[in-house]
Amino acid sequence: MTEKLWNGRFEQPTDKLVEEYTASIHFDSRLYRHDIEGSIAHCRMLAECGIIPHEEASLIVQTLGEILRDIERGKIKLDASQEDIHMAIENELTARIGETGGKLHTARSRNDQVALDMRLYMREALNEIRDLVSLVQSTLVEMAEENLDVIMPGFTHLQHAQPVLFSHHLMAYYEMFGRDFARLGECSVRTDVMPLGSAALAGTAFPTDMEWTARELGFPRVIGNSMDAVSDRDYMIEFCSTAAILMMHVSRMAEELVIWSSAEFAFVEISDAFCTGSSIMPQKKNPDVPELMRGKTGRVYGNLFALLTIAKGLPLAYNRDLQEDKEPVFDSVDTVGATLRLLGKMLPQIRINKDKMALMAGQGFTAATDLADYLARRGVPFRKAHHVAGRIVQYCIQAGKELGECSLDELKTFHMAFDEDVFSYLDISSIVGRRQSVGGTGAPRVAEAIARAKAELASREASSKKNTQMEE
Ligand code: ARG
Repeated sequence: MTEKLWNGRFEQPTDKLVEEYTASIHFDSRLYRHDIEGSIAHCRMLAECGIIPHEEASLIVQTLGEILRDIERGKIKLDASQEDIHMAIENELTARIGETGGKLHTARSRNDQVALDMRLYMREALNEIRDLVSLVQSTLVEMAEENLDVIMPGFTHLQHAQPVLFSHHLMAYYEMFGRDFARLGECSVRTDVMPLGSAALAGTAFPTDMEWTARELGFPRVIGNSMDAVSDRDYMIEFCSTAAILMMHVSRMAEELVIWSSAEFAFVEISDAFCTGSSIMPQKKNPDVPELMRGKTGRVYGNLFALLTIAKGLPLAYNRDLQEDKEPVFDSVDTVGATLRLLGKMLPQIRINKDKMALMAGQGFTAATDLADYLARRGVPFRKAHHVAGRIVQYCIQAGKELGECSLDELKTFHMAFDEDVFSYLDISSIVGRRQSVGGTGAPRVAEAIARAKAELASREASSKKNTQMEE
């Protein structure tokens, strides 16, 4: 058993069960890189401020670098007796350089240390997830551009409503993911605050320079209150909430893919590489990937609730409950990351059944609104026109035909304002083409939306390149 770094006031060893129960090393070991990065910055700051001698600081920094490499090469075993990643690394440090290693923890506590580690981790995760959101968005834009001629039925209440461009449908998701991208960016702003040096809760009496540490670690600012520093988990909650909304968007798309790939719809065919079969029914090709995307949305919602519930009853400042914050965050990062990566790969390989979509776009009286609009344009009050069109639909249902199958004479029995040009007016392509209000489905509007999206993605890429260059 490793001797506890805090055992000075204890007479008995920790119960084995307690050791297991309180350990977090099996999940917080993924913070090793961030922990070492934070410790190196802290150690340099201590030397800069004359709190520890420069030679000792150099030895600590150098040894931490070696420990990092050894963890990466799998040379260091991390186990429950070490409690958490912070203890494990500090133990390893003192094992290698003796008592000098014990100087690293001057003017800090694990409370501000873990807060820093999580912010460093989240900063990276947020950037990665933002890149993946951009990837999915650019896939959507490419698909929208390739399929600009495809018309499908637009639905409300899952009933045929009005024909729309398939590209327009795709670009609706582009908008949703755009909001997710923005939310992740806002979450970054509140994550990017440096807490180290707040120590246990009250700050420290050592003459530290938190601004120095912040600059060293690339944080734009230092946190304003040491008690908040060690107990704030808002940025994690915000991330989990953003992740939940993002997964809700993915799940809606997944749901559509499941429905659309059914024999009843047959709008799309998901590539074999993204489907699985049945162990009993040889004919089956199941849309398991979108189903699991929909299913995994549940756990991401759960993670948000876990965090909110952990935080809700906590008196200031740090409480051990807060150790439970990590697994939900890690799980949401992993789940969202894997989902977006897969979505970006699956989407371009979906076969679009244009003919079926177009066929269905004309069925179910999707032209009824335009029939009413036609009369309204001829001066009939819209309410009246709506009523007339409704009666024509009722007539067609009874006669077993679609609107376009009525003769002009038949239409005229409902209203004298109908003329020969009504048929071209009700043509599915002209119905779609006319809808050129802002954000509408008319092809010029959708083309504009695509162009705007491409410009947005390009400028995003340019600014992320600029940021990486600045970091280097
Ligand atoms: N493993 C702990 C956590 O994740 C580190 C902080 C421990 N602090 C303490 N006072 N026991 O929260």
